[in-house]
Amino acid sequence: MTKILMVCLGNICRSPLAHGILESKLPKDRFYIDSAGTADYHVGLHPDYRSIEIARTEGQIDISGQKARQFTSNDFEDFDLIYVMDHSNYDTVIQMAKTSEEKSKVKLILAEKSTNFNRNVPDPYYGTREDFHHVYLLLNEITDIIAKNLLK
Ligand code: 4NP
Repeated sequence: MTKILMVCLGNICRSPLAHGILESKLPKDRFYIDSAGTADYHVGLHPDYRSIEIARTEGQIDISGQKARQFTSNDFEDFDLIYVMDHSNYDTVIQMAKTSEEKSKVKLILAEKSTNFNRNVPDPYYGTREDFHHVYLLLNEITDIIAKNLLK
């Protein structure tokens, strides 16, 4: 079983979408996907209604059952790959890694496409529905690439 963790700040907007979209593209018997936030602001809450809505309308994916949790150092042991949505959260996660092996599991998600060098998935929390749509399109494109590589 390959275990993949999606990480953002609050675990209510971007990483629940990344979690749900990637999960929909991979066989469940071979891949376990989860998500977490570096902050504890929204622990125990369901995803933001705008993420739930864009997943349903664009991807026919139901992410409403997910619940936010905070990233912990145990996640370095529990997961094979840790995809982070932006540089700020990347720095937070990398600083928690104790070994080079743990550090090597952490990747900026959009960097999986070479022409995306150093790009962030922008935080849509204070934005509009259009910002959530933009996040959906970015994550849908990058998870196509991630899933294709994992299934090679
Ligand atoms: P996320 O978005 O990191 O994509 O879940 C955010 C959610 C909440 C906050 C910031 C970003 N907040 O400041 O409460």
